[in-house]
Amino acid sequence: MATIIAPSILSADFGHLADEVKKVTDAGAEYIHIDVMDGTFVPNITIGSPVVKALRPTTKAVFDVHLMIEHPETQIASFADAGADIITFHAETTKHAHRVVQQIHAAGCKAGVAINPGTSLSAIEELIEDVEMVLIMTVNPGFAGQKFIESQLYKIHMLYHMIEELETECDIEVDGGINAKTSVDVREAGANILVAGSAIYGAKDIAQAIKDIRGKEIEHHHNH
Ligand code: DX5
Ligand code: ZN
Repeated sequence: MATIIAPSILSADFGHLADEVKKVTDAGAEYIHIDVMDGTFVPNITIGSPVVKALRPTTKAVFDVHLMIEHPETQIASFADAGADIITFHAETTKHAHRVVQQIHAAGCKAGVAINPGTSLSAIEELIEDVEMVLIMTVNPGFAGQKFIESQLYKIHMLYHMIEELETECDIEVDGGINAKTSVDVREAGANILVAGSAIYGAKDIAQAIKDIRGKEIEHHHNH
């Protein structure tokens, strides 16, 4: 599966967001990763749906909205109307994860479910066949520029095999501490959508940074 690069605009200049989006799409990025934080599930408050709406007419890129918020069910319609293509919520934020997935689909978007580094795959196992994407957090959500948590590689690997076992299609996205180096490990483990904030927006040559993170295509050997 070809790797998709999703630059996180959390590391962009918020005073010039449309230009910052264009910068990364011109450099080859397929998705724009939009980190929505509520100051409760995670400490900061970042981007709301009006910002997504303002950016929508400026680009054709896929808007990959990562909700790090409590009560995600209350915000789905507004992010869908604002132009989100994929809406990802955290399994830790709701008792009714499956219903949230149904709400995202009913709003016309692809659904993703995310888990924190300390959350087991068992929290989302029953959702794999119903979502388009699982997001494995490789840092604790809340901030850009944190160090990649190595122990999550095994989780990515396990998820890859669960998806294979189920003979279903489901993207594996990783988010946090992704750079040219950690990219190799997460892609080997089975991730195909790579979020990167500081490694892309902090680079002098953004096109080169995206190319380095994308790396060479990895072949997965199937064991059945
Ligand atoms: C973390 C956010 C990430 C963050 C990634 O809470 O979900 O998307 O922006 O930033 P880097 O790539 O710098 O770890
Ligand atoms: Zn994110």
